[in-house]
Amino acid sequence: MSSVVVVGSQWGDEGKGKIVDLLTNYADYIVRFQGGNNAGHTLVVDGQQFIFHLIPSGILYADKMCLIGNGVIVDPGVLLEELDKLKTQGLEVTADRLLISDKAHLIMPYHGMVDRAREASLSSGEKIGTTGRGIGPCYTDKVGRSGIRMGDLLDPELFKEKLVVAVEEKNFLLDKKYGADPVEVDHIYGTFMDYAEQLASFIGDVSVLLDEGRRAGKNILFEGAQGTQLDIDHGTYPFVTSSNTIAGNACSGSGFGPTHIDAVIGIMKAYTTRVGSGPFPTELFDATGEQLQEKGCEFGATTGRRRRCGWLDGVVARDAVRLNGLTGIALTKLDVLSGQPIIRVASSYELHGKKVSAMPSNIKDAAAVTPIYQDLEGWKDDIDTVQEFDALPQQAKDYLKWIEEYTETPVDIVSVGPDREKTLLLNNPFEK
Ligand code: GDP
Ligand code: IMO
Ligand code: MG
Repeated sequence: MSSVVVVGSQWGDEGKGKIVDLLTNYADYIVRFQGGNNAGHTLVVDGQQFIFHLIPSGILYADKMCLIGNGVIVDPGVLLEELDKLKTQGLEVTADRLLISDKAHLIMPYHGMVDRAREASLSSGEKIGTTGRGIGPCYTDKVGRSGIRMGDLLDPELFKEKLVVAVEEKNFLLDKKYGADPVEVDHIYGTFMDYAEQLASFIGDVSVLLDEGRRAGKNILFEGAQGTQLDIDHGTYPFVTSSNTIAGNACSGSGFGPTHIDAVIGIMKAYTTRVGSGPFPTELFDATGEQLQEKGCEFGATTGRRRRCGWLDGVVARDAVRLNGLTGIALTKLDVLSGQPIIRVASSYELHGKKVSAMPSNIKDAAAVTPIYQDLEGWKDDIDTVQEFDALPQQAKDYLKWIEEYTETPVDIVSVGPDREKTLLLNNPFEK
């Protein structure tokens, strides 16, 4: 019996969906613990692409239980759309396959409106570049103790009481601050009571089910969203998302004790991407950056935005090891680097003449650091058909070795293509 946490090591989109889908083979329960439908996790199975925003990426295996923990924020309309889409693809998700925590907060229509109105009101240097899905405003209400939760859908009177208070406050903000149209209690109430009817059977106590599962010897896989540098506390604040994305939150975001976690795998892209604004020390503005963007098909899975691209950042990698307590790394998109004559890796930063070896917390400093690079030799041939470690070119092996030595963390998984099969599972975290 094992419990494994998977998190993003950089700024999101590292390939978490693909690796979670792969590891689901060894798990019984798959759990989302933070974020909402700002996430976009892509899986490719037998050439068919699936993108999940809310439902855990384990859903494609018919006999596995998927859970949405209390730390997730749920837009019920998006969840129902995702369930409907799966149905059209031949997969009917029933309540014995999906459980949503009654403590998970609801993303309400006014959250998205405030998110978008706020972004629009900021100057270009201030814009976060959010996904516009209402993430910040929803977590703000949660922490401000005025949020509405999944469980409230099952108590129409309580739901309405909370809604009336929230709408009064949000309409003041929308009208007076942003000059936007107000929202109506009755309209939202009607829509959400319809959602309640469709989702009631999926709502329950995630923590209790996880505990029962653990006691019964089930393997549990926790699926992180976003990435370490987008963490609300430890990321490049304020250019971050509004939840803790690091592994510690797998416990608080699902109601699972930290002493029961056995392994933490950091998903790391072989180079770096970022979507949205904020510091990105190894960002490339030249032809190499464009090559990575094109070859890696680096467009956001949620918003379709072009992802900014750059070299692998060892400082970010070490931050990820420290903040998450990584026991292993899953290195993805190694195939995208094929054909680069030289592969650069940042091994530290320089700031005002001094060496820096962790991301500075001051946002101006984070934007001002200059990466110090080491150059490694690249390889020519494509590697996307490679099925075992020994068949990798020596330069690719050296690249993996550099990462292992620099981060003092083993590379347990290497991914050489989007498909489930294009993966080298060197050490299975469920079998350690
Ligand atoms: P996530 O948010 O971390 O799950 O990542 P995304 O799904 O947003 O973005 C990762 C993208 O890279 C998706 O389009 C995946 O299909 C793709 N991908 C994952 N692993 C690999 C890989 O090893 N090689 C290539 N070429 N593509 C990959
Ligand atoms: P996955 O799980 C990449 C970024 C947004 C923006 C910032 C804040 O697919 O890796 P938000 O809407 O959360 O308030 O936006 O965070 N962001 C992501 N970037 N991958 C994600 O998720 C992201 N989720 C949020 O682009 O910069
Ligand atoms: Mg993504």
